[in-house]
Formats: sequence, structure tokens, C-alpha cells
Amino acid sequence: MQHAYESSLVTASPWWRPDPGTSLVIQGGHRLAGTYPISGAKNAALPLMVSALLTPHLLTLHNVPANLDVAVLSNLLHGLGVGVSWSKNARMGLSLTLCADQVRPAFIDRDLVGRMRASVLLLGALLARCGEASLPMPGGDAIGLRGIDFHVAGLLAMGASVDIAGGVIHARAPQGLHGATIILPSPSVGATENLLLAAVLANGTTVIGNAAREPEIADLLLCLQTMGARVEGIGSDVLTVHGGVPLTGAVHSVMPDRIELGTVACAAALMDSEILLRHARADLLGAAGPVLANAGVELKEVDEGVIARRSSLGLTGVDIETRPYPGFATDLQAPAMAMLSTARGASAISETIFEQRFRHVDELRKMGANIAVRGQTAWVRGVERLTAARVMATDVRAAAALVLAGLGATGETVLDGLDHLDRGYDGMTEKLVACGAVMHRTTV
Ligand code: UD1
Repeated sequence: MQHAYESSLVTASPWWRPDPGTSLVIQGGHRLAGTYPISGAKNAALPLMVSALLTPHLLTLHNVPANLDVAVLSNLLHGLGVGVSWSKNARMGLSLTLCADQVRPAFIDRDLVGRMRASVLLLGALLARCGEASLPMPGGDAIGLRGIDFHVAGLLAMGASVDIAGGVIHARAPQGLHGATIILPSPSVGATENLLLAAVLANGTTVIGNAAREPEIADLLLCLQTMGARVEGIGSDVLTVHGGVPLTGAVHSVMPDRIELGTVACAAALMDSEILLRHARADLLGAAGPVLANAGVELKEVDEGVIARRSSLGLTGVDIETRPYPGFATDLQAPAMAMLSTARGASAISETIFEQRFRHVDELRKMGANIAVRGQTAWVRGVERLTAARVMATDVRAAAALVLAGLGATGETVLDGLDHLDRGYDGMTEKLVACGAVMHRTTV
């Protein structure tokens, strides 16, 4: 099976790393200091990249995170006939220009789609642009059932026909899509984005009720507005799109990654260190901001970003319940748990978004964490210190959590499954090393 790193497109891109390594060796116990630059948000960059399919004109995205999911999606878009070109400069970061003047809806690589859940977004955009789309069932993190029924129901309401056979979704709308009123059963991020992408080129008005309110959706809508789309309700749970307006090109800068901010802030607090998170925006954390503050993660907004450090009261157990935005992000649940493993007192961490998002618990236990899982709640009793072990990352956010655990542990932790970390983060290991962490990549 071809690894995304090996494909010619990725090797031509500015972040290609000849030897990414499969494991990370972390020497625990080194305090952090200095500046950690927060990258553009992965979860904003992916739908923004797909929006290039809606126009024959150029879409340029600045501040694109150099992670493996972005690489895989750029390869998928290239396979669909989209022109892809990269550039890098100190002010804008990594920039990506996409040109979908020709789109071939038939060419979708099953292996690449299998790597990433967000590839399902191609469905709405391709259907709207080409009147048809065939997409292998998307893959991604094994963190729950992750159905696509909301996506499909919304596209059906917009006049598409959809068949799923042999692991492939076939969608057709030969006469084009039309506007519809769609109330989502729950505020799914991906379904909201998929239906927005379809609605922009559909004839008439689409209203999406119970829409997800994650800031990455607002970022997508701002870019679509720059491209000429007529949308209302940005930031709210009722989004209205007056579709059918031909879109122009645009230049857009990807918003900063709030998950990377929360994760590295937890690392700073865990290590009793102070780090400047450059470009970070604390206001994007929603409920996670006050909850982390109660746990002892101090965040101070400054001109350059956010300074993160442990509060003088130390780390204290807190209760967390993951919820759609502005609730506590499920993507911060695992890193917060790693930090709370050594906090004073107990924490009850409930996961309400994904059914199987506690796979990091066994790995944290190998490192001495005291965690009991009952149903969808993990009960964490803080221990004095974690101890190094060989652990396995099972998804993107679990990988980040185990990096934190390794930083705080006594001894040498080996983290396998490093590609999960690289899928979601742009140079996290290098950026931590620049702040004083001691870790290196290895292939053994
Ligand atoms: C996105 C994020 C992911 C984050 C998640 C929740 C991206 C690329 N990924 O994932 O990092 O953890 O939001 O904030 O942005 N569901 C259905 N049927 C559907 C769609 C969703 O049952 O048709 C369920 C899912 O199984 C899950 C829940 O809804 O239990 C939330 O999923 P959703 O918000 O769609 O997450 P993603 O878009 O996959």
C-alpha cells in the first residue's frame, strides 16, 4: 500500500519529511519554555480545501497546516483533476492554491478516502458541481460508529438520489440540486459542512437547522462569502444559503487551531512551564476555557497570542462533559485526561460525542494512571507521577494525549503509531523540541 508521504505530490510539497519515523521516543521530565507557533486549524483547512471544487477560479489558502490529512486531501483533489500548488513564506505560512477549472468526478482513490473521514465532504461539493459523485465509504479515526446518514438524508432532501453498494456511495443529481429545509438530528460538524458545500451551488434557498456551531464552520462560511456565496446566520445553529450564484475565486487565511492551543496549554500546565502560544486565540476554546482554568491551566491573551502556564494553585481534578461547540470539545478530552492523570483529586470525564473515544485510557494506565471507565465516563484519580512505558496511539487526539503523558512521565516513553499524530498536527514534535522537550523519531 502506498504511503501518502511517498506520493509524488506530497514529496513535492514544502513539508515533506523523507523519514517521518513510526515511533516517538520521549524523555520525560523536561520543563518547557519559549514560543510554540499554533498552526492553521486542520478541521478548518479540510473543508476549505474542498470548497475549491465549487468554482473554476483560483482559491488560495494561507496558513495551511502541514499535516498528513491535508496531504491526503490535496492528493485526492489532484486525482479529481484539481490543480494543486504549494508555496511557503514567513508571513503567510504554508499556502495552497487550488484550481478546479476541470473536475473529473470518477477518479477517487479508495485507499486515500479510507484514511480520512473528512473525505466525505467531497460528496456534497462534487454532486453540486458535477451532478454526480461516487465515493468509497470514508475512513478516519476508529472512535465510534461515525455514520453518514445525516449527510445522505440532507442530500436526498436537496433532490439527489443516493445508493450505497459495495462500500461505495453513488450520488446523482442530473438536473442539479435544489434548496431545502433540513433539520439535523444532532449538530454534526461534517454533515453541516457537506450540506453547506452542496447548498451553495443548489438552486434556491437551503436552511440548515440544528447546524453545528464549531468555529471552523464559520471560517468555511467566511471563505464561501468571499467567493460570492450568499449566506446568513454565521455562528448560529440556523444557517441559510441562497444558492445558485456562480462563485469566483478567493484568498483566505485558515483560522488558528483551537485544539492545538488547548492541547499545548495542557502540556504547559502539566509540566509546570510557561509557553507563548503564538497566533493562538483563547476565545475559540468555548467552554473548554473555563473548565481548563478550573483545572489550573492559566491562559493570558497577549498581542502575539496566548501565554499558557500552570496556575499557582497547581493542577486540580475537574469534571468534564464533551459537547458540541461551544461545549467542551471532544478533541480535547484525551489531552485533558492525560494532564488530569497527575492532578490533585479526582475528575469525572464524560464523552457524549463518540462511543469509543476512551482507547487512550488503557495506554495511560500502562503509564501508571489511575482511571476507571464506567459506560461513557472515565473516573480519573490523580497520581503523583506517570512512569514511562511503550504505548500505542489509536487516533489523532489519543496520540497527542500520549505525547503529553510522555512529557510528564519519569523515564523514556516510546509512542508507536506516530502517523496518527502527523495526521492531525503540523510539526508538533519539532515545535515541542524547540520549547525544550526531549524527543526523537525512530523507525524501530
Ligand atoms: C468533526 C471533526 C472531529 C471532531 C468532531 C466532533 C473534522 C475533520 N473532524 O468530525 O475532529 O471530533 O467533528 O467535534 O472536522 N453522526 C451520525 N450521522 C451522521 C453524522 C454524524 O450519527 O451522518 C454522529 C457521529 O457518529 C458522531 C456525532 O454524530 O457520534 C458527531 O459527529 P460529527 O460532528 O459529524 O463529527 P465529524 O464531522 O466526523
